[in-house]
Amino acid sequence: MKVTKAEFIISAVGPNQYPEDALPEIALAGRSNVGKSSLINRMISRKNLARTSSTPGKTQHMNYYRINDTMYYVDFPGYGYAKVSKVQRAAWGKMVEKYLAERETLKLVLLVVDLRHPPTADDRMMHEWLKHYDIPMCVVATKADKIPKTRLPRHIKIVKETLGILPGESFIPFSSELGLGRDELWSLIESRIAS
Ligand code: GTP
Ligand code: MG
Repeated sequence: MKVTKAEFIISAVGPNQYPEDALPEIALAGRSNVGKSSLINRMISRKNLARTSSTPGKTQHMNYYRINDTMYYVDFPGYGYAKVSKVQRAAWGKMVEKYLAERETLKLVLLVVDLRHPPTADDRMMHEWLKHYDIPMCVVATKADKIPKTRLPRHIKIVKETLGILPGESFIPFSSELGLGRDELWSLIESRIAS
């Protein structure tokens, strides 16, 4: 997709703030600091529309970005951030679960994981949960630029095995730094929002 327009719409804390124009939504889930906001910026070729930070826990609400007036990226707060209180964590879980289970305009979840390390217990739980509810999903393994090329296949294998990704499930190695995987991910998103 050629992105001609990208705007921040709202930082939503609950369903009454979600947009009502029924455009298709692509949501990003993943560990805090894994690179979700950076991935959005790379997809839309904007430096810092989705706010990124080296401090984990930057994205606290569901941030909506409208692209070309045709779709939204929905940037979730990251999970697994130790400094978040139990109460906050429970609130996060409720908000995200409700969204994932009930949002009719949701077309695809990008489960963003770190290609450098084996997925965490939280990553595995999220993957299982999305599968269980039959929510269309693509695992995007980011920060590929931090791994020497020759070792990429090994890292890809470990991530796939740890999550139990089956042949036929969508999996895309990615780098927000280099743009690796961008075209492939756009193709997938475009086919999902057309369906
Ligand atoms: P939260 O909003 O806290 O959940 O984090 P996030 O998942 O949105 O992560 P964010 O995009 O803010 O990125 C976290 C850090 O990782 C930043 O310092 C980014 O510059 C860095 N980063 C993200 N993606 C990549 C990548 O593909 N390659 C490299 N080298 N660094 C990356
Ligand atoms: Mg973020």
